[in-house]
Amino acid sequence: MNNFHPNIWFPFTIQKGAPEPIKVTKGDGIWLELEDGHRIMDCISSWWVNLYGHAHPQIVEAISRQAQQLEQVIFADFTHEPAEQVAEKLAELLPGQLNRVFFSDDGSTAVEVGMKMAFQYWQNKEDGRKTFICFEGAYHGDTFGAMSAGARSIFTEVFNELLFDVEFLPYPDTWEGDNNIEQKEQAVIEKLKKLLTNHPEKYAGVMIEPLVQGAGGMRMCREEFLQKLGKVCSNYNTLLLFDEVMTGFGRTGSTFACDRANVEPDIICLAKGLTGGFLPLSVTVCSNDIYQTFNSTDPIKAFWHGHSYTANPLGCAAAIASFELLQAHEEVFKNMEQWHREYMTILDGHPMVKYRRITGTIAAATIGTDEENGYLHSITDIIKKQSIKKGFLMRPLGNVLYFMPPYCTTKEQLKAMYEGAEEILSEINKSGSMN
Ligand SMILES: Cc1ncc(COP(=O)(O)O)c(C=O)c1O
Repeated sequence: MNNFHPNIWFPFTIQKGAPEPIKVTKGDGIWLELEDGHRIMDCISSWWVNLYGHAHPQIVEAISRQAQQLEQVIFADFTHEPAEQVAEKLAELLPGQLNRVFFSDDGSTAVEVGMKMAFQYWQNKEDGRKTFICFEGAYHGDTFGAMSAGARSIFTEVFNELLFDVEFLPYPDTWEGDNNIEQKEQAVIEKLKKLLTNHPEKYAGVMIEPLVQGAGGMRMCREEFLQKLGKVCSNYNTLLLFDEVMTGFGRTGSTFACDRANVEPDIICLAKGLTGGFLPLSVTVCSNDIYQTFNSTDPIKAFWHGHSYTANPLGCAAAIASFELLQAHEEVFKNMEQWHREYMTILDGHPMVKYRRITGTIAAATIGTDEENGYLHSITDIIKKQSIKKGFLMRPLGNVLYFMPPYCTTKEQLKAMYEGAEEILSEINKSGSMN
């Protein structure tokens, strides 16, 4: 029996038997306050969006000011200052040629736009490339294009017959003590080269979550792999798409994963942290080269895509304030990798903690039990429940426990998260409830 609200249908939830959702009444920095007054530390930045903690006054103020000026306006035939400022700032922050900004609403639509853009780029050039190469374990969102590009999983199972064909390569993920990574990477690169050599006319582009695959279980790859990938795409003349919906805006310890890897994609998708976690807004940014194939008087070459709230001025105002805060928090997002390394040692020798990995502000480990790894692993619910009791919001992806805290987190708070995790795992281990 559950006490779900009679009028709400919650996302990603097995409806029957799910625990009652917890009502949150207030957010303040790293803290969330619950209806009963209990406070919990947000260890995952609320679905990875909340960069500087909850209710940062600078963003509150920016949205409030903008709401009194212009809350929304149609974005075809009209424009506005906040959108122009966002586009200019992104062109400045992003590497090289990435300077044409297309707005949409969330990560899935940013990806959808990226794929449509790449596909139509080849059409506009009268070149028939249509197929995408993507990565096993990927998650790019829940619209049909994004689902097609992602791993076939419980999320897509019901829809698989409607998804278009994509070719998948293994994601060469790595972890502490992995001695085999170079061979793994080389095997993927060889596979990719083979596809591109055998069918040079077939592939519209390669899309990847650079450095960290998020929902697929915080699987991390190396910068070296992305560099090799970038070279192959450019040598074999196919487009490289970076889905930085999650990795953007400091998450990997650099402003973007493409900076850290020193690889320039042709298309980049950004969302989540774009507004500092306040409002849904996303962008797909492409190179001038791609844009120029659409820059035509021929209607068939135009990009026929848009949404009612495209470039919403409130979202743009939040993004502008967020860019300022990003700069102010640079030291924190650069240093957090070191803090994670220091406190990950709290889990040293813990029998259940395996495959530890850290990139920038993100740290993860696989919790090993007798049960098969996966999103529906039963340890998820145990950790969720125990963590709330102890004052933390942890929400493992199956049996992958991870931290992706906001940039207002202090060293002491990060340490407390690891100590909390250690306690929870020790209790589970002692009670033998998983084995
Ligand atoms: C890498 C990546 N791409 C796309 C998405 C989809 O974003 P949204 O949930 O905003 O549609 C996500 C969401 O987790 C993501 O992590």
